[in-house]
Parts: sequence; structure tokens; C-alpha cells
Amino acid sequence: MGKRKSERKQIAPSLSVFDLQAELGMTKHMGGQQATDELAELCCIDASSSVLDVGCGVGLSSCYLAEAIGCRVTGVDISPRMVFRSEERAANAGMMDRVMFKTGDIERLPFDDDEFDVVFVESVVSLLEKKRKAVSECVRVVKPRGFVGFNESIWIKTPPEDYSQGLSYRSGVNVGVIEPDAWERLLLENGLRDLVVRTYPADVRSELRNTIRRIGFRELLRVWSRAFRLYRKDPTYRDFVREAMSEPKEMLEFMGRGMFVGRKSKPVIL
Ligand SMILES: C[S@@+](CC[C@H](N)C(=O)[O-])C[C@H]1O[C@@H](n2cnc3c(N)ncnc32)[C@H](O)[C@@H]1O
Repeated sequence: MGKRKSERKQIAPSLSVFDLQAELGMTKHMGGQQATDELAELCCIDASSSVLDVGCGVGLSSCYLAEAIGCRVTGVDISPRMVFRSEERAANAGMMDRVMFKTGDIERLPFDDDEFDVVFVESVVSLLEKKRKAVSECVRVVKPRGFVGFNESIWIKTPPEDYSQGLSYRSGVNVGVIEPDAWERLLLENGLRDLVVRTYPADVRSELRNTIRRIGFRELLRVWSRAFRLYRKDPTYRDFVREAMSEPKEMLEFMGRGMFVGRKSKPVIL
């Protein structure tokens, strides 16, 4: 018989949630494709825009934006495995002329100043410790009056103290979810103006619907079958998934998602 959660020995995961996602070929953010559409609209992306998708994961939003809107998209991710998955997706969709991918760290983006019309970030900064540096890099590479938009997990209610620690432990990444006020300060301190802030509570049922809508039922089946194979064959992944599943249910009371969008202020010429 399986041990109860409280009796299982806690083993520090040797993997992170990103290793698992890269292996499965699926990354996600709260709100799914609907949130991507909303963020694209708030950032005024149109067919003439050049967009940088930071922390692009397996390239779902990069390919979706290029396809749905006709804009040019560059995706950047710290994980070469994610970049490989993104390129594979774009090649399969015959989109390599409209999207390109590069390996790079949000804290040192491999792009020139003022290069993009829009910097688009979904579920990346809430997983980083050095948020200020990450946001300042996003602002550096966007053109003056360009848009920088974030769709990130937030605390909508202050959680008990050890929640973030538990989340970081189980996911193998430094989860640094913050509250909407702290997001607003982060954007303002980094020179973004005309802020738009929208927050939503977490909704598990619509999250599943959104995931299916975003990747399609056939791809979801492929992801599940890869997950099942990994779970059966690889004890490291098995332990990781078990640990991740022991998330306290009441956590959703505290969690939500937020859209934070601002425009880079024009330099003052004296
Ligand atoms: C939760 S996933 C979201 C992926 C994608 N934006 C999406 O919505 O599907 C977070 C992504 O951020 C990437 N990432 C983590 N730290 C990063 C960093 N310092 N610089 C760039 N990307 C990073 C991870 O490799 C992962 O692909």
C-alpha cells in the first residue's frame, strides 16, 4: 500500500518542473490561450509588430501569435531543450520564416537596446529571484513607447509564510510569486508608464479547458502518453511527480493570475 503524504520521506528533487515540461513538450501559464489573446490585445500587437516572447517554453505562444496575428516573433528561453522543442514546433507548422528561437537568459537578454515593438512574458518572472533585473532587461530591449506585458501567477491573498518555500521545494525552481502591488512597483521602478493591471482568481476547471484549447486534444494525448511512459520507466520523474502532486489543495485560495502591461517612457532629450 502507498505511504500517506505525511509519512513519505521528503527527497529534494534532482529535477525541476522545467526539465519535466521540456521532456513532455508542454509548458503552460495560467489563463491559457485566452490570456495570451488578452495580453496581445493589451500590448497592441498587430501584423507589423516585432515581438520578443521571453521564456517561450516549447514555443506555443510564439507560433500562435505569428499564426493568428501575422507578426514576427522571436522566442528566447534559458533551456536549450525548450528551444529545440520550439524549433521543432515551428518547423512542423512550416513557420520558420515568421518565428525564430534563441537560447538566452532573461537577466542578460542577447539583444540590442530598443530592438522590439513588444516584449511578451508569460509565467517566467514569478519563478525568478532577481525580478528587478529581469524586468529591466525586458524594458531595455523594447523600443521607446513600446509595450512590455506580463501574464504571471500572483498571490491574490497573502498566503501562510511557508507556502512559497513549499512550492519552490516541490517544483525545483525558486518560486517567487508576489502580490499585484509589488508588480506595479516593479514596472514603475523600471521606467514603464501607462500601466494596465488586471487580476483574476485561479479557477482549476477553466485551467484544464484552457490547456486543451491551447494545445489541442491530440497533442494533449501525446503529452499524457509521454508522461505515462516517463512515470513508469523513470523513478526520478516518478518521485518528482509524486512530490509535485502533494500540493496543498487550499493553495488555490491564495493564487491567481495578473496581467501587468506598461509602455517604455521616451528618453528626455535635454
Ligand atoms: C512556466 S514556463 C512558461 C513557458 C511559456 N511562456 C508558456 O507560457 O508556455 C517558464 C519558462 O521560462 C523559462 N525560463 C526560466 N528561467 C528563465 C530565464 N532566467 N531566462 C529565460 N527563460 C527562463 C523556462 O525554461 C520555461 O520554459
